[in-house]
Parts: sequence; structure tokens; C-alpha cells
Amino acid sequence: MTTPTRPATSQRWSSRLSFVLAATAAAVGLGNIWKFPYIMGENGGGAFVLVYLLCIFALGIPVLIGELLIGRRGRNSPGYAARKLAVESGRHWAWQLTGWATMLAGFLILTFYVVIASWAFSYVLKSAQGTFDSPSAKLVNDVYEQMTASAGEMLLFTALLIIATAVIVGKGFKHGLERTVKWLMPLLLLLLIGIAIYSANVGDLGAALNFIFKPDFSQLTVNSVLIALGHAFFTLSLASGVMIMYGAYLPKETSIVSTSIWIAVADTLVAIIAGLAIFPLVFGYGLTPGEGPGLIFQTLPLAFATMPGGIVVGTVFFIMLLLAAFTSAISMIESIAAFVVERFAVTRWQAAAGSCVILFTFSLMTIYSFAGAGWAQVDWAFMGKETPTLFHVIDHLTSNIMLPLGGLAVALFTGWAIESRYMREELNTSTRVFRLWRFAVRYVAPVAITLVFLQLIGVLTF
Ligand code: PHE
Ligand code: NA
Repeated sequence: MTTPTRPATSQRWSSRLSFVLAATAAAVGLGNIWKFPYIMGENGGGAFVLVYLLCIFALGIPVLIGELLIGRRGRNSPGYAARKLAVESGRHWAWQLTGWATMLAGFLILTFYVVIASWAFSYVLKSAQGTFDSPSAKLVNDVYEQMTASAGEMLLFTALLIIATAVIVGKGFKHGLERTVKWLMPLLLLLLIGIAIYSANVGDLGAALNFIFKPDFSQLTVNSVLIALGHAFFTLSLASGVMIMYGAYLPKETSIVSTSIWIAVADTLVAIIAGLAIFPLVFGYGLTPGEGPGLIFQTLPLAFATMPGGIVVGTVFFIMLLLAAFTSAISMIESIAAFVVERFAVTRWQAAAGSCVILFTFSLMTIYSFAGAGWAQVDWAFMGKETPTLFHVIDHLTSNIMLPLGGLAVALFTGWAIESRYMREELNTSTRVFRLWRFAVRYVAPVAITLVFLQLIGVLTF
């Protein structure tokens, strides 16, 4: 492997606020608004939320700190950054795989992420045109089925989204990414809070609060714990190259510990507020929370069809979802484009365009999984799915396997492999906080992740 010709990372975030905004924009996405509510619904609500919060604080934040440390110390895209640190600490070359594996995970996630985002895109137009104007479960269902069965529609909207992403990333991280999130993030928060307030008024807030905050442990299985763990990594954009990359742009003097806590708290708040925007409607309009991935696409439009001002609220809701997904997509392609610029003699524009063409090609796997092409179906029994597809495989492989394992690798890498004085220097915090973090990445995260895995593959039974 050759050395990067030009580190793409000479630039820095303009301010701490702009970094926190960008990292929050990367973190807040479909995970918060589409996935969290439905996995919460499938796993019984409150108890799942508790386990999830525990995962965020005990594992998510320490790993997030670790990734920002790797990035800032390595000052390169994730693979090269990890390699630099491994070399610097005199470790085996294989440690650099930590960095490369996270980039691969980020890319794989992005291949289905853009497709789900394309649904949001399509739903913005559908709601605005009044498609959901009559409260018929059959109609809403048909619209969803028809969209997901239509390769053409998904191809079109996915392509548009990917092109928009390429444009922002191509402009470079200052003029593209930083400037975009500065506008989109506040807008997104405003829309989300507006919808939550509205939905508390027209829906059943009491039932929603009960569902989100009252733990019912009888619904909790080991599998739910794994899902909570995987989602803690997914929602913070960990183990996917993003935060290592963002760390590479961090000025030396920014405090990594406090910004990490900010990012995690902001992301968690958005997820909870999204729950508060969605579940009052679900309960208020007699819908069921455990509907799975279709929750906001098949269930919610029914509420929008019935409630006063539903066309506007529904449209705004999907605009918000689209914005959230878009800013996350930008963040995922950033590390890949930066890598291409470092490795090959190309401009940022060429790197962005090239990465996006490859991304589009791979997104076909998800598009045709839904559109039902034969080649995208898998014919082995998979995760209890009736008709498993490549999408199910990629989703499971990334969220439930690559992210926890990547998180484990980051924890081990920063806790054991990199010389502790480097981490101490980078972290630049009190001895107590440093020890606490170190304890978390050396012991807590590895033990927790390993236990959940052993349980999953049936070696342990609790
Ligand atoms: N954190 C994003 C979300 O919650 C998803 C994501 C994962 C983004 C990995 C980038 C990298 O939607
Ligand atoms: Na998130």
C-alpha cells in the first residue's frame, strides 16, 4: 500500500459550534426519525429506550471520543489515519484495518441509506400533491407498495439525491459541507419541534409518553439488546468512517470530551423528539407502533390523512426527514472522497463524482431488493424474514455486525494499541476523565460487545 500523496485534511472547522453542528448533522438522520421509532415500536418501547440510553452513554460516547482522537491524531482519512497511529505506536500493520473497515461499513450503509432517503424525497412530492388526502389504509399501503415496487421511481430519486450529495462534497468541506449544515440543521430542528408540538395537540400524547418512558421489560430479548447496541453505533455514525474523518478536521484546542457529549445528547434528544412527534399520532389515530420499517411510510400518512392541516404537516414531516437523511449522506461520502483525493492524483470534484457513480451502482442492490428483481433475493433463510433480500443482508451485516465489531475494534485500538501518552495528549483533560474514558474503551465496551455477540451466536445463554 502506498502512502497518501496529499493529505486532504489541511483544512479545519471554522469554529467549535460549526463542528458540533456538522457532527450532529451527520448523526441525526434516518436513524433518529425512521429507524429509532420503529425499532422502539418492535421492541416494546420504554425498556428498549433504557437499554439504548445505556449503550449511548457507556459505549457510544467513549467510542465517539476514540474516533475523534484517531482522526485528530492521524489527520488523514480513516484508513490512513489508523495506519499512521499504528506505525507511530510500533504496532502490527493489521491495526490499520480498523480504519479501512469503518470506511467500508460507511459505504455499505450509504448504499441503502440513499434509497430510503429517496422514499422520503418521493413522499415529499406525494404528500404535497395530496396523495394521502383520504384516510384509507388500503390507499396508503398501495402507495407504499407501488413506490417500493417501482425501480424507476427509486432510481430517479436516488440518482437526484446522489447528484446533490456529489455537488456538496465536490465543493470541498468548507464551502460545501460546513456551509450546508449551518443552514439545514437549525431548519431541521425547527421543523421537528414544530411537528412534535402539533402532534402533541392533535394526537394522544399521554399514550405516547407511556409508551416511550414506561419500561416493560417483558418485551426485552437479547436480540433487542443487540439491536440497541447496534443502533447506538448507527445513530452516532460510529464505526463508519464519519467521525474519524470529522476528527481529522478538528482544531488542536477543541475539547473532544465535551463536544462528544454534546453530539450524543443532541442526537438522543432528536430521536426522542422524533418519537414524540410520531407516537402521539400513532396512538391518537388508532395505529399500531410495531409496524417495522413501514412505520413512517405506511402508518403515519394515515394520521396525516385524517388530521387537520394534514397535507401541510405531512409534507413538512417528509421534508424534514429528507433533510436529515441528506446531511448524513454527505457525511458518509466525505471520508471516501477525502481518501480518493489523498490516494490518487485527482481533484475534489473528480473524487466526489467518482465515489458517487460507484455509490449509485451499489445502491442498485437495495433498489432491486425492493423492486423484487430475482437477483436481489437471497434464497437462504435469513433473520426470520419471509422473502429475504440483499437489502436485509446489507442492513443486518452493517448495523448488527460491522458496526458493533467496528466499535469493538476502535475501542481496542484506542484503549490498548495506541500508546496511551498520545491519547492522553490528544484528550487533554483531567486525569480522572482520562481514566474513566480509558476504562470504558479498555474494558466496558469490549466486554459488553463480546457478551452480546456470544449470546447471539448461542455460546452463552442468560
Ligand atoms: N447516524 C445516521 C443516522 O442516524 C446514520 C449514519 C450511519 C450516518 C453511519 C453516517 C454513518 O441516520
Ligand atoms: Na442518528
